[in-house]
Amino acid sequence: MFWTETEAARYLEENGLPYNPQPHVVKKMTAAANLLKGLTVLDVGCGEGHLYHFIKEKAEKYVGLDASPDMLKTATYYAPEASWRLGDVYNLEDVDRCDTVFSISLLIHLENQSEAIRQLWSRALKRLVFLIPIQKEEKIINVRPGLIYHQTTFDGVKKIVESLEEVEKYTMTPLSDLKPRIKLYLGLLRPDVRLHYFVVVDRIQSH
Ligand SMILES: C[S@@+](CC[C@H](N)C(=O)[O-])C[C@H]1O[C@@H](n2cnc3c(N)ncnc32)[C@H](O)[C@@H]1O
Repeated sequence: MFWTETEAARYLEENGLPYNPQPHVVKKMTAAANLLKGLTVLDVGCGEGHLYHFIKEKAEKYVGLDASPDMLKTATYYAPEASWRLGDVYNLEDVDRCDTVFSISLLIHLENQSEAIRQLWSRALKRLVFLIPIQKEEKIINVRPGLIYHQTTFDGVKKIVESLEEVEKYTMTPLSDLKPRIKLYLGLLRPDVRLHYFVVVDRIQSH
């Protein structure tokens, strides 16, 4: 697991406190929170819980799920009142469904994005929202030991989303200024890495 105690401390330093983060995180989390549909939230790959602080006033229920106990420790420290859960995006079968499932900046670190999106969609009653950089070619880069950067393309995302069942519609909207954080990870990819997109997938409602 890449997201150790040391990495959790670095992430906190780089992004700022969950309730008062750096401006680029405020922008990202505010934009994400505005995409909430319904009242219950599952945040997969929640990290240190930054989204929680931007969505708590709008949501009746929030569950943050992450594979790293150390990231969750920080999330819990800054929001002990919220529900934090250890788990894996590839195995969400026993996680309660919620109106909106969020997954912010997780998919770029996953080998099997198709399976992860399928799992995320299976938990979404109304909407799935994920943030992902879109680039010109599909490629997996080993950034650091245990950390991959899985570049994907418009066509790659479209193919996955269009294979999901019960999709009413989906949109892909750019969030263009995430550069400061990404720069630290990926100096060499700087010219391309600003092309982050919010992908919003809505489920057909039966009523
Ligand atoms: C770049 S951080 C994003 C955290 C948060 N969503 C944010 O935007 O601040 C990626 C997070 O995904 C988590 N993660 C990595 N692999 C995972 C997996 N298989 N299942 C669930 N979470 C995972 C990591 O522990 C880390 O907290």
